[in-house]
Amino acid sequence: MTISTVSLHNGLSVPQVGLGVFLITDEQDLSKTVMSAIESGYRHFDTATAYGNEEALGEALKQSGVPRDELFLTTKVWNNMQGYEKTKEALEISLEKLGTDYIDLYLIHWFGKDVTGTWKAMEELYKAGKIKSIGVCNFDIDHLKELLAVAEIKPMINQVETHPYFPQDELRAFMDEHDIKHEAWGPLSQGKSDLLVNPVIEELAAKYEKTSAQIVLRWHLERGTIIIPKSTNAGRILENISLFDFSLTEEDMAAMKGINTETRYGREPRDLEFIEKTSI
Ligand SMILES: NC(=O)c1ccc[n+]([C@@H]2O[C@H](COP(=O)([O-])OP(=O)(O)OC[C@H]3O[C@@H](n4cnc5c(N)ncnc54)[C@H](OP(=O)(O)O)[C@@H]3O)[C@@H](O)[C@H]2O)c1
Repeated sequence: MTISTVSLHNGLSVPQVGLGVFLITDEQDLSKTVMSAIESGYRHFDTATAYGNEEALGEALKQSGVPRDELFLTTKVWNNMQGYEKTKEALEISLEKLGTDYIDLYLIHWFGKDVTGTWKAMEELYKAGKIKSIGVCNFDIDHLKELLAVAEIKPMINQVETHPYFPQDELRAFMDEHDIKHEAWGPLSQGKSDLLVNPVIEELAAKYEKTSAQIVLRWHLERGTIIIPKSTNAGRILENISLFDFSLTEEDMAAMKGINTETRYGREPRDLEFIEKTSI
């Protein structure tokens, strides 16, 4: 199976499907999950300092025996480590925990208090080769405008909640203008909605003899979005990357556009109380 890639504005290729490991904190679970993912063809893994599993992920990847240069590894600077000095320190801690000497994609987890300082540190770490690409998460259009005004290197990716009930059309249009690639977190709406039993999706699933999750994930791929669905179940891990033997037509995509409810199931990017609390 060949996994499609998305090309960033610095020329780096990102495997379009990766495994998210949010909430997988038990070492044995993570080890089993990573092994299933590797066997299913995943080479892209998405973690964060805040997930508390960088060390276990690093160990599981080491155990897998896959050479480091065949892996694509993402981690994120947490809110309490933002700012110029602390970001540099945070990266060193992540490198140590993940057992590697570079990160493929380093992201600002939320728009924190000193984005200018954080970004400057990330640009320097990028130039030093410790990070192969840099980006952000949970930035809205105004957040991106603020960053673009001070950035020497434009962000390459914005990782935001996205699924057919919340397609982020306006933000995507702005990101397209600035060649910032779209990465979806919660690509299946985190299991918090009735997305997988939506009749439009169930009908497409029957038409293509796929599962509803595969229809949703293929919808993301047709839009050029990078996806990082999370699962600890070996069958679903394989299902979530078995997306390359069919495609959706323009008509199918139009039908899916019709189910948009503009509903966010995760945290709001401007939850200032949360940012405040987690920045200490
Ligand atoms: N940057 C950010 O702020 C941010 C925020 C949230 C998440 N993320 C990243 O994005 C990744 C993905 O998001 P997410 O984990 O929140 O949500 P998600 O991938 O949309 O959904 C995960 C949920 O869906 C279930 N699931 C997975 N595959 C399925 C399938 N084929 N059929 C039915 N159910 C399925 C999983 O259960 P099972 O495990 O039982 O299969 C789990 O409960 C995270 O792991 C994390 O790496 C980033």
